[in-house]
Amino acid sequence: MTNDLSGGVDNLLTETRTFPPSAEFAAQANAQPELFDRAAADREGFWLEQARELLTWRTEPTQSLDWSDAPVARWFADGTLNACENAVDRHVAAGNGDRVAIHFEGEPGDRRDITYAELLEQVSRAAGALEANGVTKGDRVAIYLPMIPEAVVAMLACARIGAVHSVVFGGFSADALHSRIIDGDARVVITADGGWRRGKQLPLKRAVDEAIAKGGTAVDRVLVVRRTEQDVEWTEGRDVDWAEALAAAPATHEPVAVEAEHPLYILYTSGTTGKPKGIVHTTGGYLTQSQYTFRYVFDHKPGQDVYWCTADVGWVTGHSYVAYGPLADGATQVLYEGTPDAPHQGRWWEIVQRYGVTLLYTSPTAIRTCMKWGEQIPGEFDLSSLRLLGSVGEPINPEAWMWYRRVIGGERTPIVDTWWQTETGAILISPLPGITSTQPGSATKPLPGIEADVVDDAGNPVENGQGGYLVLSSPWPSMTRGIWGDRQRFVDTYWSRFPGKYFAGDGARKDDDGDIWLLGRVDDVMNVSGHRLSTTEIESSLVSHPSVAEAAVVGATDDTTGQAVVAFVILRQEAAEAADIVAELRAHVAKEIGPIAKPRDILVVADLPKTRSGKIMRRLLRDVAEGREAGDVTTLADSSVMDQISKGMAAG
Ligand code: WT7
Repeated sequence: MTNDLSGGVDNLLTETRTFPPSAEFAAQANAQPELFDRAAADREGFWLEQARELLTWRTEPTQSLDWSDAPVARWFADGTLNACENAVDRHVAAGNGDRVAIHFEGEPGDRRDITYAELLEQVSRAAGALEANGVTKGDRVAIYLPMIPEAVVAMLACARIGAVHSVVFGGFSADALHSRIIDGDARVVITADGGWRRGKQLPLKRAVDEAIAKGGTAVDRVLVVRRTEQDVEWTEGRDVDWAEALAAAPATHEPVAVEAEHPLYILYTSGTTGKPKGIVHTTGGYLTQSQYTFRYVFDHKPGQDVYWCTADVGWVTGHSYVAYGPLADGATQVLYEGTPDAPHQGRWWEIVQRYGVTLLYTSPTAIRTCMKWGEQIPGEFDLSSLRLLGSVGEPINPEAWMWYRRVIGGERTPIVDTWWQTETGAILISPLPGITSTQPGSATKPLPGIEADVVDDAGNPVENGQGGYLVLSSPWPSMTRGIWGDRQRFVDTYWSRFPGKYFAGDGARKDDDGDIWLLGRVDDVMNVSGHRLSTTEIESSLVSHPSVAEAAVVGATDDTTGQAVVAFVILRQEAAEAADIVAELRAHVAKEIGPIAKPRDILVVADLPKTRSGKIMRRLLRDVAEGREAGDVTTLADSSVMDQISKGMAAG
């Protein structure tokens, strides 16, 4: 990760290994080269064709892109459809009700197979239960669940009645949940008593109770799934048992047709200012591109493949590539509740072997963790069913890519390194496995129908071999329609840096063939284990502790998590330098934001490096945090500050 787009790419420059698709894979691939030709001939017509071909509409759309309200796009706007019907009902109607939709594996080892017919009954009952509790089209429903089938059922049930879901990652704290419930103005929360994580129970219901007790929310119903069967407090009249509510609801339910531009969900992501951004996705364009990418990037063959995406539903990957894309394409997928090391470090590979997983989608951070544990662990399992591997969340370093291909893919599987964001809704830059020659570390080229480029400071495309800023030059169907309730922030954040172009916030480089290499975020947002965390959010959390006066947070390269949070704090004068202040602050951040944001290192310092205008120079702190000598200090207000910090870091 680097802010310096011209440097730090030496390892990429020397990368010469290339992996063309095998003739066998190419011959059977869903995506053939004419897909590029069709898209290039008439981009908007191509997308309309995809929308009509892939989805089942109540009213077929005749319009493709409407950019009249730019930068808020409308796609297929005269069409109507229902997302849940596309994900479930139509497969049953087509005679595939007996196909397994979800192979669920709980962390304790409990297993459940759910067919499409069974899924249809569950989403129908859940939709009826939501309606019985007063939820109607357009209402927001917060979902705070572990990685269990009910999470997918809850999302689809909202979609079925036109309600807008807002999934909050089950690892987030009551505070984080509270602010997201408030921002989205949710009236209903769907949660569980708890979930299993490394043999321990996550207290989800308790966090919901705490969040509501903070006040200011409109929540008057909490639906509770029994997962761990732990004791929970019960508020009569507000809390509803999920299983009882579903049992009381009819087994069938008519999905509500909505306009293509009806909001499907809100998902919060960190920004550079402390307030999380509610990224809005709508129905028709989002579903089109989720299914399109699932079919062509993962080469999915319904009824034959067994797919597994290891992401949690709390992140966008769990929305587009667990709930919507795969189900819309009629996939059979694995859903696993727990961590890769519970109860042993071979758990994932045991799951691949048990279900005969053919398509696996995971993150570089997970791959690096498995590398750390050693290749003898996957070596104990039969992974020969795998035929394609995917990666997402951060740049995958070439060593990890090679390890993934050799140890997990048996030197045989293509790897798709897929670049996208919460805001983009679906994959934009990725190899197509039967067409593209891959290189370890490159996401290669924009998919058919997508226009991306790398530009310089002035917004002009850079030459091949140069670095710059990644931009999307034209609208795409699954793009976010904005930030919930804040159009101006949407314009400012993504559309003001390079007028008329979407600025992704990532640095990138084009190689001599024009292939794209991602270089990480150009702003100060960190990427820890594939998840974006804002420095400001963590700094605000540190400063909210009574002992802290000021804090600066940077992401430092970390072998396992990609980047690790390193914090520099200035204590308040009156604060006694408690011996355990560092431990206390780490726990504080974990409580306020969630364990993922907990700093790896906290250094108590006397001062922070600042420009004369008072801006903290994080670049210098990153140098120190990564063990380098601090770079150019000439613009510092007080140049001795860095010496003191470097000494403190070396001593600590
Ligand atoms: C940011 C988006 C997309 C779902 C998971 C994260 C980084 C994502 C790649 C990749 C290099 C990547 C970017 C991007 N990123 N995929 N294949 N190569 N970087 O979603 O939290 O919205 O984060 O993750 O920096 O902007 P997100």
